[in-house]
Amino acid sequence: MSDKAARVIAIDGPSASGKSTVTRMTAQKLGCLYVDSGSFYRGITWKALRDGLDTADAEQVIALINRMEMTSHIQDKSVMFSIDNEEPGDQIRSQPVQEHVSDIAAVPEVRAFVVSMLRDTARFGSVAMEGRDIGTVVFPDTPYKYYLDADPEERARRRFSELADDSGYQNVEAVYASLKRRDRKDTTRTAAPLQIALGAKVIDSTAMTAEEVVDIILADIHRLEGTAA
Ligand code: DC
Repeated sequence: MSDKAARVIAIDGPSASGKSTVTRMTAQKLGCLYVDSGSFYRGITWKALRDGLDTADAEQVIALINRMEMTSHIQDKSVMFSIDNEEPGDQIRSQPVQEHVSDIAAVPEVRAFVVSMLRDTARFGSVAMEGRDIGTVVFPDTPYKYYLDADPEERARRRFSELADDSGYQNVEAVYASLKRRDRKDTTRTAAPLQIALGAKVIDSTAMTAEEVVDIILADIHRLEGTAA
């Protein structure tokens, strides 16, 4: 498939629906860039915690985004970012960031700031972007929209099997409870709640491998473009 016309592949869905694996694989197959939109919210959370801010205080967080410099660049076929010339690396996956990121992602000014950065990544060329609001808010006009879902029990099993021993979660039931809490937060928040975008193809991956999901996405892109898979 040629990469002449820049495409945006939007892949949304709840936590542990398989978005990261599927979006990375889709980007690789299409030769386009991978963008993890959640990492931007996590990066701002990392910076806020490092600066000793109260992440529940929206005013402090807004002042932070107004004074910091966040810039994106390409590294290993992914769009990455630095904040005030520092890259947070794996620290965006730490437990403190995990615990506070939903506060940060609920602030409308933060969302506007991240949405503008995410839109700007299209200047690098075609992108496959995963998130919660990519097809609804960030790129509502892209024809390539997918919504991945899976039964909560299956999502909890997948997430539990990926977790490190020191994650703090004792069993799959605890992961299930945490996922249900996040689902509730993600779908009921006022600013850009998780929703199925208009025109998105819904893929239930409960009984599917990541490869099978990617095949469906690629076949759909070919169908939309009128080319053979
Ligand atoms: O996908 P993730 O777990 O890395 O997302 C981290 C947080 O950011 C989570 O609270 C959901 C939120 N998020 C969002 O609100 N919008 C996005 N496009 C991506 C993530």
